[in-house]
Amino acid sequence: MQLEINGLTKRFGSFTANDRIDLTVATGEIHCLLGENGAGKSTLMNMLYGLLRPDEGEVLLDGEPVTFHSPGDAIAAGIGMVHQHFMLVPVFTVAENVMLGREQTRGLGVLDRAQAASLVKELSEKYKLAVDPDAVVEDLPVGVQQRVEIIKALANDARILILDEPTAVLTPQEIDELMAIMSSLRDSGTSIVFITHKLREVKAIGDKISVVRRGKVVATTEPTASEAELAELMVGRSVKLTVDKGAVEQGPVVLDVQHLTVIDHRGATVVKDVSFDVHAGEIVAIAGVQGNGQTELIKSLLGLIRPAAGDILLDGRSISRYATRESLDAGIGYIPEDRSHDGYVGPFSVRENLVLDRYQDEEFSHGIGLKLGAISAHAKELVAEFDIRTQSIDSPVSALSGGNQQKVVVARELSRPLKVLIASQPTRGVDVGSIEFIHQRIVAERDRGTAVVIVSTELDEVFGLADRIAVMYAGRIVDIVSPTIHRNDIGCLMAGVDPETQRQETTNA
Ligand SMILES: Nc1ncnc2c1ncn2[C@@H]1O[C@H](COP(=O)(O)OP(=O)(O)O)[C@@H](O)[C@H]1O
Ligand SMILES: [Mg+2]
Repeated sequence: MQLEINGLTKRFGSFTANDRIDLTVATGEIHCLLGENGAGKSTLMNMLYGLLRPDEGEVLLDGEPVTFHSPGDAIAAGIGMVHQHFMLVPVFTVAENVMLGREQTRGLGVLDRAQAASLVKELSEKYKLAVDPDAVVEDLPVGVQQRVEIIKALANDARILILDEPTAVLTPQEIDELMAIMSSLRDSGTSIVFITHKLREVKAIGDKISVVRRGKVVATTEPTASEAELAELMVGRSVKLTVDKGAVEQGPVVLDVQHLTVIDHRGATVVKDVSFDVHAGEIVAIAGVQGNGQTELIKSLLGLIRPAAGDILLDGRSISRYATRESLDAGIGYIPEDRSHDGYVGPFSVRENLVLDRYQDEEFSHGIGLKLGAISAHAKELVAEFDIRTQSIDSPVSALSGGNQQKVVVARELSRPLKVLIASQPTRGVDVGSIEFIHQRIVAERDRGTAVVIVSTELDEVFGLADRIAVMYAGRIVDIVSPTIHRNDIGCLMAGVDPETQRQETTNA
């Protein structure tokens, strides 16, 4: 089905989130919508899916104008959407979720359990989705849950599929699998609108790329465009895609982790006898596929979980029994992986979030009352310095885009004197322009002499930042290597394979 959007405009109060958008998606085309966080991509798609009403403009499907008052209308017209946050019932099976999601306004008819199961099986085989109809959704990895959402849309005969930042939650392997699924859907004639801010992805899979910046489509181009060109279109200025970083000037050891073991609440040993140190002025990256103990290791460094054995020394003093408050006071800065959970308080203002763990400091408090003027001045300074895009310092952090929310956390953590900075997935879900900025700030912190630990599943980030790389697999640090190591060798270590053995096997085969 062909989709044509003409002059679509959406305003929120005085703010124009979509400004006269024109877009054409041909039948069987993967059309990428590339844009930074807050550019207006989801707003456009929500209009297309009947969740928002356009203020101006029209939508045509196969040349016919359509108006949607609800997602039901959009689904009935053949549009399916997979949202950033899944809308599945976790305790139900895949088939039950598909049964519930069946849209009857299309005259598709009610499904019983057995029919739903066989439909799931059929779609799963046709598009190589590998989804078991009887699996309970909450037991499935995120990548598979996403495929269940795709099946739900296909079960409603979607001819146009909207995928809103589907790769943000996926591992590199799951991204490859999703790309294969998208190709097979395209080959069967489904049109796909693929939203992302990752340049590598649009070049890998897109037939056409439309770049959205500040509510406008600034260009529609081909995947042959270079990453630098695309980045510039997206951000509106030229962007450095590599991290600028001088040689490391290693100081004394600041953080010394000795034989650390962590046992989780189910009794599983998730961190096994881990030892490493981090010097002043050095960035150590902990690389690994998600779920290999990195999260638990970091939490134990911060006193969020107690290690079962081993010790953590900060400037030679044990902090392994410290409460989190004491660790932060001792000079550890923390940029958490799940910022919405641990990083900020969404309903609180930008101003409040920027002093979240410091409002008791003398600088901001008289003991009984807060120094509101000082808190505001502090917020204004950081908003300018960290280029936090917000309407005002009184806006709730929840109203900001992901990249700007992350900048609030980074700004707060880097605005106090640190001995150690621990940053877990510091740029996950963050746009290119903000990634560049956050990376620069992390390197600047290193150059100030802070000992920096980053945890990242993104190899580009690991190679860009690290002075040394510790690879974690199955709870252990399997090796500590220099960033001059070959990408493939790191891939092997991350998969628990010895690179040397792998090389011999490839030679012999
Ligand atoms: N319901 C809303 N009310 C007010 N502003 C909104 C609403 N939804 C989105 N916005 C604003 O519109 C802009 C575009 O948001 P969005 O379409 O979600 O961007 P993207 O998906 O490209 O990251 C952002 O500045 C966002 O804060
Ligand atoms: Mg969005």
